[in-house]
Amino acid sequence: MKVGVFDSGAGGLTVAKSLIENPIFDEIIYYGDTARVPYGTKDSNTIIRYGLEAIEFFNNFNVDALITACNTVSAYALDDMRTKAKYPIYGVIEPGIWALSNKIENKNANILIIATRATIDSKRYENELNSLGYNNITSIQTGMLVPIVEEGILEGKVLNEMLHYYFKDIKTPDVIILGCTHFPLISKPISQYFNNHPTLIHSGEAIVEYLNMKGYKNSQNSSDITIYASDNVEGLRKIAKNWLQEK
Ligand code: DGL
Repeated sequence: MKVGVFDSGAGGLTVAKSLIENPIFDEIIYYGDTARVPYGTKDSNTIIRYGLEAIEFFNNFNVDALITACNTVSAYALDDMRTKAKYPIYGVIEPGIWALSNKIENKNANILIIATRATIDSKRYENELNSLGYNNITSIQTGMLVPIVEEGILEGKVLNEMLHYYFKDIKTPDVIILGCTHFPLISKPISQYFNNHPTLIHSGEAIVEYLNMKGYKNSQNSSDITIYASDNVEGLRKIAKNWLQEK
């Protein structure tokens, strides 16, 4: 089976990595819209338009399913995208919520959601968690971490300064939802900032468990990945080479 994986840039590689480690599909077609990253600063109509244009891209590949490995697109565009596609489209927010509810029983757990401005403004995570009874939630937009990751800055002083800028007034949470697929690339520094205390919810791990629950099995020996980008494909392939090989 062939799956499409779509993100605004390099972030969806974190989902692709989980799919390679759990080979449900024998072929992964990855598309990063690097010409227009970041999406998280755009308004909802623009995000929907980009989502629909991604469907046109994947129409060339005859995919069996599409994973929108971008929380920002998942927050706004899935309904519209689904009306244009003949195959199932999975976002990453529902799997993330599902993974959290499987892991965290305590409804008073201190949950921190970090995501792009657009995802935070959509209140998708917050509303769904509230409806499941979780009541101790802090949401902050940490959108500047997206260009830092796109730049390949995955550790060091600049990143740590940026984490301090966003987290300095935040009490150590029990759980952090990495509500942007770029953030697992910097999950170690994020976790270390809070002395490795929080449980991290990662869209890639969540989607694999969610697809397994939906009946997709890890039945392939391996998954081949081909990477496409709307700009600087070599830059994206370089990040992919480093990230996908790292254990
Ligand atoms: N990786 C994306 C997400 O999960 C988008 C980041 C961006 O383009 O701003 O939200």
